[in-house]
Parts: sequence; C-alpha cells; structure tokens
Amino acid sequence: MFDLEEVIRERHSTRMFLPDRPVPRSLVDEALALAVRAPSNSNLQPWQMVFASGAVRDRLVTALLHEARSRPPKIPPLPHAFAHLRRELGAQVYGSMGIAREDTEARREAVLRNWEFFRAPLAGIVCMHRDLGSVDCLGVGMFLQTLLLALTARGLGTCVQVSIAGYPEIVHAQLAIPTELSILCGLAVGYPDPSFPANDLRISRRAIDENVVFHDA
Ligand SMILES: Cc1cc2nc3c(=O)[nH]c(=O)nc-3n(C[C@H](O)[C@H](O)[C@H](O)COP(=O)(O)O)c2cc1C
Repeated sequence: MFDLEEVIRERHSTRMFLPDRPVPRSLVDEALALAVRAPSNSNLQPWQMVFASGAVRDRLVTALLHEARSRPPKIPPLPHAFAHLRRELGAQVYGSMGIAREDTEARREAVLRNWEFFRAPLAGIVCMHRDLGSVDCLGVGMFLQTLLLALTARGLGTCVQVSIAGYPEIVHAQLAIPTELSILCGLAVGYPDPSFPANDLRISRRAIDENVVFHDA
C-alpha cells in the first residue's frame, strides 16, 4: 500500500507480465469495490467490464493473435496534428525495449504482444452501452483510472490497451459480450516481469501550461 500521491506516481504501463503468477481474485475484488466509487453522469455507472483468465483468456489470445497476423486492427487514425505524439511515444517505448526504428520485424513482434495482453494472466475488456455518448466515456475513464490506482496499490501492473478494441468482433464472440456493448479498450493485469527493462520506463509529460490555462482577473 502507498499513499495516494505515491500510487499516482507509481502507476505506469507495464508491457511484460509474469504469465505464471496468477492475480488473486480478492485483490481484483477490492480494487473494483474502490473503482465503482468513481463519479458518473446521472450516476449511470456506465462501465461494464469482462475479465478472462485461464483457458478462456488463452483462447481469446489465440484468436486475437491469429487475426492480428492476418489484418490490421480497426483503430481510427490519429488526426494529423497529433500523429507526431504517437511517433514520439513509439520511440520511447521501443527504444526502451532496445528495438531500433528501422528494425521492422522486432517492432512487429513487440506490437503483436498487445494481443497477448503482454502475457498478463488476467485480461480485462472495458465496455460501455453503445447508445451512451462521450460524456459517459468520461465516467468509464474515471472508473478505469481508479481501478488502475487501486491495482497499483496492491502491487499489480496494468496496461490500458486500445489495440484490443481493434478486433471487436473477436472479443465479442470469444467472451459472449452482448452486441449492445461497445468494446472501448482492453486492460492487462498481472505482476510485472522485473527482468524486462521497458517495464521501468517512465513516459514523459508536457509542461502543465501547454495544456492548462488560468484566466485571472
Ligand atoms: C485509452 C488508452 C489506450 C491505450 N492503448 C494502448 C495500447 O494499445 N498499447 C499500449 O502499449 N499502450 C496503450 N496505452 C498506454 C499509453 O501508451 C500510456 O498510458 C501513455 O503512453 C503514458 O504512459 P504511462 O501509462 O506509462 O504513464 C493506452 C492508454 C490509454 C489511456
């Protein structure tokens, strides 16, 4: 356990887990009990989560990897003005994995690990009813960040993954998720692999005044 500020600083994306160290269900239950305290528009509590472990998770990974090897994910491209940020992130993430920019095969293998949930033994799917809108996505996001912090405080690593939403029909079919639920993202949960150097990466942030404006009288 940490105090709140420590947990916020400690949380970061883990991109390699210990596949054979299971996640105790009691820790996930505790974290979920905290996460549902998140605020939401009209208290809709718009988050819907599905978790898979064991053979169900393995079947999902097999199906996702098969698909990812055959066709690109359906993820909307970033607007031009933001595209450089993904390139900058890629340089930090793949650089920390020791993968050179021109090494397309190593990069492809690293990207494919997304659909293995980075080998995490617990695979989460974050969903929301398809008729809800962007204001309700805020509620799901608040739930999700609280969940990440509560899991971090319990010694677990996490990675939120839009990549999982790139093959929604596979996720729907493998986990029998009702069609009225949209797949927003995946969530890998497990114990970080301490021998994977990229797990120590701390992604930089812009200066606050680039994103926040104060108008003072
Ligand atoms: C909605 C969302 C989707 C994300 N999708 C992916 C993903 O598909 N693959 C991945 O490796 N990281 C993904 N991330 C992690 C981000 O790259 C990461 O949060 C960001 O670079 C900041 O790094 P940090 O989480 O280590 O602080 C995602 C994060 C969020 C919030």
